Amino acid sequence: MKILITGGAGFVGSHLADKLLGEGHEITVIDDLSTGRYANIAHLEDREGFRLIIDTVLNAKLMEELIRDSDRVYHMASAVGVRLIMEQPVKTIETIFHGTDVVLGNCSKYRKRVLIPSTSEVYGKGLSLPFKEEDDLLTGATDKHRWAYACAKTLDEFLALAHFKETQLQVVVARLFNTVGPRQTGQYGMVVPRFVKAALKNETIEVHGDGTQSRCFGHVTDVVNGLTKLIETPSCFGQVVNLGSDSEVSIIKLAETAMSMTGSTSEIRYIPYSEAYGEGFEDMQRRVPSLEKAKRLIGYQPTRTLEDIINDVAAEMRSQAAPTLHAQN
Ligand SMILES: NC(=O)c1ccc[n+]([C@@H]2O[C@H](COP(=O)([O-])OP(=O)(O)OC[C@H]3O[C@@H](n4cnc5c(N)ncnc54)[C@H](O)[C@@H]3O)[C@@H](O)[C@H]2O)c1
Repeated sequence: MKILITGGAGFVGSHLADKLLGEGHEITVIDDLSTGRYANIAHLEDREGFRLIIDTVLNAKLMEELIRDSDRVYHMASAVGVRLIMEQPVKTIETIFHGTDVVLGNCSKYRKRVLIPSTSEVYGKGLSLPFKEEDDLLTGATDKHRWAYACAKTLDEFLALAHFKETQLQVVVARLFNTVGPRQTGQYGMVVPRFVKAALKNETIEVHGDGTQSRCFGHVTDVVNGLTKLIETPSCFGQVVNLGSDSEVSIIKLAETAMSMTGSTSEIRYIPYSEAYGEGFEDMQRRVPSLEKAKRLIGYQPTRTLEDIINDVAAEMRSQAAPTLHAQN
C-alpha cells in the first residue's frame, strides 16, 4: 500500500515509518522538522519505497496531492510538548486544528482511510480513574494555555467523528497516553528522556511540582503496533480508542528508577510549576487509561515495562554519546 505519514520525522511517526516500510509498504513522510528531526528517518532515506517531503501539512494544495495518491494516512503531525504548548499557544492551536482539517477534508473527498492521534490530555481534570473513552471531559479555563492543546485535540476528535457520521469516512481516533522510547527528545518538556539524560550525566534531575503526580508510560513499539491494528480493523472506524500503558508510576519514582538503573549519583531538585512553565500552568495529578476497548477491538495488550523503556532510552543515549567520549580520549 501507499502510506502517507504526516509528522513522520517525529518520535512516534518515525517508528511507524520503520514498521510499515519493513512490512513492504511505500511510505511518504511529510514533516516541517519543527519538533521532528531528520536524524529520526535518515536511516530510511536510501531504502526503496521511502520518500521524505519537508513541508507543512498546512500546505493545502500539496496535501491534496499526497492524500489523493495514498491508500492510508497516519496524521501524526502536531504541535507537542508542554513547554512548546505553553510558549507558543497560537502555533499549537493552528497546527493542530488547521492541519487536521486539511487532512480530514481530503481523506473524505478522496475516500481514504485515516488515523488521527489524540491525547490523554483531553480527559483534562477528570478524577474518575481509569479514564474511559465515553467519559465526560473537563478541561480548565481558557486563560490557562496548557488546555489549548487538549481542546484543539478534542475539536480534532469531533471533526473526525463528524466526517464519519456524514460521509462514513474510514477514520479512527487513538487517544495516546504518555508514549516514550528511543528518539523522543526532552527538549519540549518530555519527562523520560530528560530524566534519563540527566541521570546518565550525573546532572541534577529537575522534578516539576512535588513529584507525587503520576503517569502511565507506554513503550512506543507497543503503541505503534496498536496504531497499525486500529487503522486495519473496520470495527474501529468512527471509534475513539485509548492506547498506551495502564501501569502507573509517580514522577519521583520515575526519577529514582532512572537513577538506580543507570547507577547515577544525580541529585533531585524540585521546581515549582510556575518557575518551570510560567504562571497559568495547571497539571493533572493522575492519568490512567482503561485499555478495555483497545483490548476488545484489537486485542491490545502492552508488553513492555517501565524498566524496558528506561533501558532502551539509556542504550540509545549511550550509543549517541560514544563518539563524543572517543573524541575526548
Ligand atoms: N508522545 C506522546 O506521548 C503523545 C501523547 C499523546 C499524543 N501524541 C500525539 O502523537 C502524535 C505524534 O507525537 P510525537 O510524540 O511523535 O511528537 P513529535 O514532535 O516527535 O512528532 C510530531 C511531528 O510533527 C511535525 N510537525 C509539526 N508541525 C508540523 C506541520 N505543520 N507540518 C508538518 N509536520 C509538522 C514535527 O516536526 C514532528 O516531526 C502527535 O499528534 C501527538 O499529539 C503523542
